[in-house]
Amino acid sequence: MEREQWSSTLGFILASIGSAVGIGNIWRFPYIVGENGGGAFLIPYLIAVLFFGLPLMVLELAIGRSTGTSVISAFRSIRQRFAAAGLVIVAVVSLILGYYIVITGWVLAYALFFALGQPIEFDAFIGSYLPLAFFLLSGLAVYVTVRSGVREGIERLSRYLIPVLFVLLLLLVVIALTEPGAAEGIGFYLSPDFSRLTDPGVWIAAFGQAFFSLSVGMGILLTFGSYLGKEGLFRNAAIVAVADVLVAVLAGLVVFPLVFTAGLDPAAGVNLAFITLPAAFTEIQYGMVLGALFFLMLFAAALTSAVSMLEVPTAALMDSYGYPRKRATLLVFAAAMLLGLPSALSYTALNLEVLGTPFLDLADYAFGTIGLIVAGLLVSVVGGWFMSRSRICKEIGGCGWQQTVYMALIRYGVPAVLLITLVGSFFRGSG
Ligand code: PHE
Repeated sequence: MEREQWSSTLGFILASIGSAVGIGNIWRFPYIVGENGGGAFLIPYLIAVLFFGLPLMVLELAIGRSTGTSVISAFRSIRQRFAAAGLVIVAVVSLILGYYIVITGWVLAYALFFALGQPIEFDAFIGSYLPLAFFLLSGLAVYVTVRSGVREGIERLSRYLIPVLFVLLLLLVVIALTEPGAAEGIGFYLSPDFSRLTDPGVWIAAFGQAFFSLSVGMGILLTFGSYLGKEGLFRNAAIVAVADVLVAVLAGLVVFPLVFTAGLDPAAGVNLAFITLPAAFTEIQYGMVLGALFFLMLFAAALTSAVSMLEVPTAALMDSYGYPRKRATLLVFAAAMLLGLPSALSYTALNLEVLGTPFLDLADYAFGTIGLIVAGLLVSVVGGWFMSRSRICKEIGGCGWQQTVYMALIRYGVPAVLLITLVGSFFRGSG
């Protein structure tokens, strides 16, 4: 059967933005900025995106387009024994997807609660079995999309949801900036503390966040690249990266003005999205509507990211084992739900914990932080060192001095930074 292709460059860009823009932008980015030097954090963050995230994005797209297949078979075609590395990446994505769907379910539930005007307290919500229903619902939405194919499913979903997301975001920014706490909120969010830039922890946080947010190193862009035609890779990857940074920065402009308007603690860290912000919505005017819109936006972001993750193992089954798409999707969906179940149960009465850490938190650390970096290392080493230079040059438009700089970055810079981030993340631990 002929390989599916994106219907247009725009469709590919929207799907890639859908993958990149997720919970990481709207929930994680604002609180990480708050914790790591405010506006000054943008400096290491932009360096991370520009010099390390973007080159790796381009490399993934290049491997995918050049080999014309998904991660396991692409790696196998580079060297037989690298198929195992491809398998590791597929496993990491599936494991991340499991707990990501759990959080996507929480977001869906919150959108619904606010729309009904009845927000539930977070601890009461995740302590109940209600999240399981939303976990299943979100999983089904992801499954149905991927089952419908690259064009009819993934691309179509993003064509609808990404514009909706941007409109909602801009609307919320405008509203948040007119709230009484706006000036104070922005002061907290963006006032730069440059002294923090000498702290290596801030740099490690910036690199970790950049890789997570760009969805890079997971074989997603590699798989997406295998559906590409002759598009220029740098330009399109840059558009995706810019959109990703923009959404993250704008999300902070929504979150902090609202938190300050409600007089709440802006340094709530991971609790910001599900405890502080919902509390803020119950305080401010039109809070229920704003809350519903906010969580709807977050749901659109999370769903399109989850879809891109499910496509990786699905395409791998199709390409490596010749499964038809529908059967591959069903299998992978079932596996992801099973893998996510312990995370979905981690806060319920069953209290699934490992050594005192809730399973979901552990999964986020082991797979979403450490696993993600290891996967990124595999991509950069296999692609940078074992795919021939001429083959990469062919994909990125010639072999001039720019490409020499690029290759040096991919071969030395990116793996070095990933290694440092890996070691740094180990020492920071899961807490
Ligand atoms: N980039 C997504 C986000 O910001 C998350 C993600 C990570 C998606 C890794 C795919 C792979 O939420």
